[in-house]
Amino acid sequence: MNELDTLADAARASFAQALTPSDLENAKALYLGKAGRITELMKGMASLSVDEKKTRGAAINLAKQAIETALTERRQALAAAELQAQLQAEALDVTLPGRQHGQGGLHPVSLTLERIENIFGSMGFDVAQGPEIETDWFNFTALNTPEDHPARSMHDTFYVEGGYLLRTHTSPMQIRYAVQHVKKHRAQLDAGQGMPEIRVIAPGRTYRVDSDATHSPMFHQCEGLWIGENVSFKDLKVVFTDFCRTFFESEDLVLRFRPSFFPFTEPSAEIDIQFQSGSLAGRWLEVAGSGQVHPNVVRNMGLDPEQFIGFAFGMGPDRLTMLRYGVNDLRLFFDGDMRFLGQFR
Ligand code: DAH
Repeated sequence: MNELDTLADAARASFAQALTPSDLENAKALYLGKAGRITELMKGMASLSVDEKKTRGAAINLAKQAIETALTERRQALAAAELQAQLQAEALDVTLPGRQHGQGGLHPVSLTLERIENIFGSMGFDVAQGPEIETDWFNFTALNTPEDHPARSMHDTFYVEGGYLLRTHTSPMQIRYAVQHVKKHRAQLDAGQGMPEIRVIAPGRTYRVDSDATHSPMFHQCEGLWIGENVSFKDLKVVFTDFCRTFFESEDLVLRFRPSFFPFTEPSAEIDIQFQSGSLAGRWLEVAGSGQVHPNVVRNMGLDPEQFIGFAFGMGPDRLTMLRYGVNDLRLFFDGDMRFLGQFR
């Protein structure tokens, strides 16, 4: 093996040892650079004759080409290895489960309100919304609960500057809705032609100073009102029994109207339900207050109590939700814990 072959072999070996592109460029400089071995050999030809230069030059060029070929091959090998490493590092495991988009759902109390609205809607009841910040008039006085009335003490609430308060029940909507209705049919009423019946439910948030496992300072109520010229307690019984059986999807359920007192109804009754089977069987569960609308309240609606009569009820959608889903702590509904709320869809 001549000296030039040895040089090419040495270059090939040192290129093979280079493990990175920059190592390889350093190794290249040793052989092909300005001060490299090939350049040195070229310079060494200066003293040779023209013929000798020809053969020697051709031989050096061959060695140079061999070294360049080796360099190119090594460059390509290193680039390929780098690409391979990169592909491996960034490899996607297509068998991994995808990142899920969280699926939203309605709050359990919203599901209940939706059910209540659908059921009463199917019985011809309108659905009305009212303000949560109320005046004393609508929340108490118009509902036959004057300032010194003892029933007010059970409705301690949050008072807002300017004589407003957070409504303690949805009953103010009885007055608000009826007044609008009467206004709409005033001419007809004045002409002695009566008016279409008032049939409405008013669900929404209500507030009281109360907080324990079954009371929250913010809770929900749903008011019901049915006023006409010939509406009786019998109608209340039929409608509410129907509602409860549809809501709980059970015919196996009885109702009890227990005499009670509310300033805005006379007579008044608490409505209790009892399941005849299942885990709640046998217990009387209070679900609503109700009664025949008091003549003073009918008057505050702008109607003549001698001509118009009806009934009202106020129920607790939170309580209904607890019963329907078997939840025993009301606070769970309002803590915002997704582990709890995510169970309802
Ligand atoms: N507003 C009452 C309360 O919060 C519930 C109620 C009782 C509403 C009787 C009514 C009713 O409409 O007739 O305790």
